[in-house]
Amino acid sequence: MAVPRTDVLHDFVCISNRLPVDRVLDADGVPEWRTSPGGLVTAMEPVMRENGGVWLGWPGVPDETFDPFTEGGIDLVPVTLSAQDIEEFYEGFSNDTIWPLYHDVIASPAYHREWWISYQRVNQRFAETAAAIAAPEATVWVHDYQLQLVPRILRSLRPDLTIGFFNHIPFPAYGLFSQLPWRKQIINGVLGADVIGFQRPADAGNFQRSVRRLMGYETKSARIMEPQSDGTFRQILAKSFPISIDSAGFEELARRPDVQARAAEIRQQLGEHKTIMLGVDRLDYTKGIRHRLKAFSELLCEGRLTVENATLVQVASPSRERVETYRLLRDEIELTVGRLNGDYGTIADTAVHYLHHGYPREEMAALYLAADIMLVTALRDGMNLVAKEYVATRFDRRGVLILSEFAGASDELKQALLVNPHDIEGLKDTVMQAVTMSVSEQERRMRYLRKRVALHDVARWSRSFLSALDEFPALRQPAPTD
Ligand code: G6P
Repeated sequence: MAVPRTDVLHDFVCISNRLPVDRVLDADGVPEWRTSPGGLVTAMEPVMRENGGVWLGWPGVPDETFDPFTEGGIDLVPVTLSAQDIEEFYEGFSNDTIWPLYHDVIASPAYHREWWISYQRVNQRFAETAAAIAAPEATVWVHDYQLQLVPRILRSLRPDLTIGFFNHIPFPAYGLFSQLPWRKQIINGVLGADVIGFQRPADAGNFQRSVRRLMGYETKSARIMEPQSDGTFRQILAKSFPISIDSAGFEELARRPDVQARAAEIRQQLGEHKTIMLGVDRLDYTKGIRHRLKAFSELLCEGRLTVENATLVQVASPSRERVETYRLLRDEIELTVGRLNGDYGTIADTAVHYLHHGYPREEMAALYLAADIMLVTALRDGMNLVAKEYVATRFDRRGVLILSEFAGASDELKQALLVNPHDIEGLKDTVMQAVTMSVSEQERRMRYLRKRVALHDVARWSRSFLSALDEFPALRQPAPTD
């Protein structure tokens, strides 16, 4: 295995809580590296492969220390988290405080002072590690809600660096954000960056409002003016940069004969003549899986769909399984799926094919190709890259995307069938509209969607963020005091 050099400093450092690979044991108990879950990794992997630099993050297991290594062409620097860090920083503050708060309190956030202490400690560790490996005047790109204090700590350790921060999840309205006991510290932490990126203009607007309300700083369109001790202002750019996927890569995958053969096999196994509906999510309460199941079960109950003519494949990949809210959600979903299959299934036909697994990209592409309808019914989602993956895969211009208006992707993918997932009647009618949509309308919509996703791919996203950071040295000149 190649090893990145640690005796040299790096001009470009990417930091996220998770590395793109997790340390796991295979079926024989042999440790191996496996692709990590989530949209952040999907998006950043191709960017890092193209731009070079090092990626700093946690390797997914407690208390193990790994030397830097190279995997899939990317240089990785592991940061160790202890079992206590995982419990308090990762499962606690990151995923039981910030995650529910930033997703509009769909679940109740828990506020615990010892979690906050852990969050500060781990953010300090990430910042110190980055400070030690960044070359003079390097660019450091910090990612996501687990590391909101890193920009400020890094700036104080290394004022020579140019620092970017990108928030992959929504940023909530002030009325919700203000619940957080440590709201000022979080805002101040993020403001250590030179450029702050959000998924939607609404997220950037919410952040700016919190800055005005909590810090009293002036904002001028996308710029925030941070007063300095000498009476000048430091300028910070905070705006939306909607993230995307490697669209060409997905299409290439979908065109592979083995992937197409697998798609045909899936269709054949599920029933050629059936309408195949697909949901692909981490098993998370933000994804609206319950709402989707409810709509499907009512359509079966009312006889508008039958198990002989329709089936739902729900991939729910395991996520944050030690957090109580996630455990309860899993029980609830599995109870609902069991009931639905018990009530409506027959020996020959299953209503819901429920798969509690993560799958490699090839299998996902085959599933996308096999599905007539893709259901993205998130109650709140920063972007939702699954929606974009479905579109990029459908080079045949077939298939219908049903997309929640509460997912960031709905700002761009306007030719999808947009839904409010809380409106179960509306969702049912939209599913029926998709079931009966003519091929010509599918093609018309898909053509538009595909153009958008092909043009606005992840390379364009990273270029626009990094060029905003590049242009920053000019902005870093203090602004006049008037
Ligand atoms: C989302 C977040 C990522 C996170 C991923 C998987 O995409 O934005 O920061 O890594 O979910 O969640 P996990 O808790 O397993 O890292």
